[in-house]
Amino acid sequence: MFFPLKELILILLFMAGNAFASTPEKVFISVDADTLSILKKEKFISYVPKSDGKVAVVEVNKADIEKISEVMHSEFHRCGGFMFHESYSDAKNVFEPVLKKDSLFVDYSINRQDLVSSYLGQVDEKKIIEVIEKLSSYPNRHYKNKTGLASQRWIKSYWTKLTKKRNDISVKEFKHSWRQSSVILTIKGSKTPGEIIVFGGHGDSISGSRYGRRQDNRAPGADDNASGIAVITELIRLVVANNYKPQRTLKFISYAAEEVGLRGSRDVANSLKGRDVIGVIQFDMTNYKGSNNDITLVSDFTSSEQNRFLAKLIDRYVGATWSYGRCGYACSDHASWNQAGFTASFPFEAQIRNANPHIHSSRDTLDKSEYGALHAVKFAKLGISYLLEMDQ
Ligand code: BES
Ligand code: ZN
Repeated sequence: MFFPLKELILILLFMAGNAFASTPEKVFISVDADTLSILKKEKFISYVPKSDGKVAVVEVNKADIEKISEVMHSEFHRCGGFMFHESYSDAKNVFEPVLKKDSLFVDYSINRQDLVSSYLGQVDEKKIIEVIEKLSSYPNRHYKNKTGLASQRWIKSYWTKLTKKRNDISVKEFKHSWRQSSVILTIKGSKTPGEIIVFGGHGDSISGSRYGRRQDNRAPGADDNASGIAVITELIRLVVANNYKPQRTLKFISYAAEEVGLRGSRDVANSLKGRDVIGVIQFDMTNYKGSNNDITLVSDFTSSEQNRFLAKLIDRYVGATWSYGRCGYACSDHASWNQAGFTASFPFEAQIRNANPHIHSSRDTLDKSEYGALHAVKFAKLGISYLLEMDQ
């Protein structure tokens, strides 16, 4: 068959255009290198730009992210087990040594004993229960759903109401490139407002262990992570009830889209790069007592120095038992902060292997904690101790 040159060029352009239109969107994730062979076998990986034998950065189709999360879960019993990156330049940061500036500014001594003691007895289990019940009444809090946005807006309005008498407090939506926003409550420091302390947890929930319709599954997420948001809300309530005016700036954050690769917290942490965030504490799963020791201080992707400080606070103020434990992967939002170069800690409800077995299912409800919040109360006590001892 004979095509004049002009026609030939048009046909070629048409074919190239089609090929281009159907090119799936690529993103990068970082994974433990020992997961590579399975991910390759399942044909998720298009190429591996970098691996140091422990961690690998790989390129995948954005549309496969949820399936990859399933495979990580079923093959490696790691939920998720990877970190999500929009670009390679962002991804390759995982190989950079993380900036360490803990000891430069922060004095981890304990010296507000009387003040802290006067707050501990005020932690109110009933208030914590109320927030858990409210949040788990949404069908789910998925980052792509209407209900995922509505639940974050509920948090925003609840926090706004709690703090309406204070003009040093603002509550704002932090928008992302997807439907669900993060919510940030800021109390401006009265003495050194440039120094920031962050109290965070994820507001989203997810459910389902099969490929397919996860987005619409019922995901009450009572423990994972209404229980963390309830603890943070209790801290806000205590600050206001005692008319406490911090010297440093305090930020209380409900992150969006944690369950799909720590995406909300990554945006928030990156937005504060270059600022003096002197400490971050993560509350994700606080209300299921799965181990003899009450609190596990997650030792990977965290600051060992700040972890030791938390251990001292637990001994001195909470009267609970603790131990160290590893998640083994970037399992929650503390890792986003750690990755961005900040000092983060993650006190967790149990030894990792004894965590609430009902998470990511329709059974993650308050009855699994006897309809109570006594375990979460310990985390609120730790949180308020950390707040008051850090803010000086
Ligand atoms: N709360 C979990 C993390 C968790 C679960 C820690 C059990 C320790 C024991 C968190 O919400 C979560 O599910 N994270 C994801 C991480 C991910 C998508 C990068 C996970 O583990 O699947
Ligand atoms: Zn989860």
